[in-house]
Amino acid sequence: MSNPATPPAVGVLDERAPLTFPPGFLWGAATAAYQIEGAAAEGGRTPSIWDTFSHTEGRTVAGHTGDVACDHYHRLGDDVRLMAGLGLKSYRFSVSWPRVQPGGSGPANAEGLDFYRRLVDELLANGIEPWLTLYHWDLPQELEDAGGWPARDTAARFADYTQLVADALGDRVQYWTTLNEPWCSAFLGYGSGVHAPGRSDGADAVRAGHHLMLGHGLAVQALRAARPAAQLGVTVNLYPVTPATGSPGDSDAARRIDGLANRFFLDPILRGQYPDDLVADLAKVTDFGHVRDGDLATIATPLDLVGVNYYSRHVVAAPVPGEQPEPYWRAPSNWPGSEDVRFVSRGVPVTDMDWEIDAPGLVETLRRVHEEYTDLPLYVTENGSAFVDAVIDGQVDDAERLAYFDAHLRAAHQAISAGVPLRGYFAWSLMDNFEWAWGYTKRFGRSGPQRWTGRTAS
Ligand code: FCB
Repeated sequence: MSNPATPPAVGVLDERAPLTFPPGFLWGAATAAYQIEGAAAEGGRTPSIWDTFSHTEGRTVAGHTGDVACDHYHRLGDDVRLMAGLGLKSYRFSVSWPRVQPGGSGPANAEGLDFYRRLVDELLANGIEPWLTLYHWDLPQELEDAGGWPARDTAARFADYTQLVADALGDRVQYWTTLNEPWCSAFLGYGSGVHAPGRSDGADAVRAGHHLMLGHGLAVQALRAARPAAQLGVTVNLYPVTPATGSPGDSDAARRIDGLANRFFLDPILRGQYPDDLVADLAKVTDFGHVRDGDLATIATPLDLVGVNYYSRHVVAAPVPGEQPEPYWRAPSNWPGSEDVRFVSRGVPVTDMDWEIDAPGLVETLRRVHEEYTDLPLYVTENGSAFVDAVIDGQVDDAERLAYFDAHLRAAHQAISAGVPLRGYFAWSLMDNFEWAWGYTKRFGRSGPQRWTGRTAS
């Protein structure tokens, strides 16, 4: 980890030299079902926790919802043609659980599965490799009503749903990831509550994290049995966590946040155990009594690849006695048991999400996963930036976003040169979309003028 007293200069990797990536490197763009599909009540789809949450007053900016979103459900053909025009080699999308299994239990909804069959067929017809994520945060509301991810049974329900999707699409989809960013589902959904379902209880967040990983392990087993040749993995969102100074207190703060943000997921999934220091940090929150014999072996079911989403770095400092850190958007902490750790801003340039731009952090993150955890192929399954853009004469001149991609692709290349088996990179996002609690106020898309007119939901 670098010393934040001398933060790495932004753009330090930007040497403007042309780069060559290895043959077969998978270039793609990513989206998620609730962020783009719309058609929330069509084709037999039932509400997910994000429908309920976005329709609850005060939960999203200006009450924005995914009811219409980018209308991708109706514009699938046009959208795939745009992807082909961009030269995408791969497209990472997620399947909406309540669209293919309304209510989260029982038989498949043929109409819902047909939508994804059409999508996959169109992609293949256009030479685009489909990359399917099974869970990008849209839990069927009925399963939340039955306890949500803090309830153990949700993991079993997830495996059943996986089986339905594997049966329908397993013959034509080669790349599968189970969960997208389980940290967000667990700690934003059940810890701070800034994401759906909007609950705030540290112990529930920890239980949710465990059951998400259990569901992941069960889903991998179901997929492996159904499709032995498929490439299976999971996507985690990782951050380098750096102490603000060299003081022991700051180093301990970094250890704690690294435990909750990164090692909570990496260690069980890739090593079959929770880190001892994390369990100790959480002792006042939970006794981990929800972990049953055999769970960790299931969670560590062997994979074929690991997906890494990378956006920024966390710089943290020791608590100041008697001082509470600023609450995150009026919400309780995302960090159970470490609520009083302070997040420090280094004053380097940020995106419109207020996330510090830190391309060297991508090299650090990829090297860490490879050097400390696994030889498996790695993929950057999301990386990108929101900036305030202006449409001028039908065009968007998004120089800042371009510079962000440039710096991060150079970082990806540097990781490869350092020996990381990085096999692909997916830009977030194919198009502007519903950015969760931020609604349509944050623009991550990088595309032509047609994306800037007539596609924004109210
Ligand atoms: C990630 C999410 C993705 C999008 C980007 C900006 O955390 O996986 O859906 O919101 O952030």
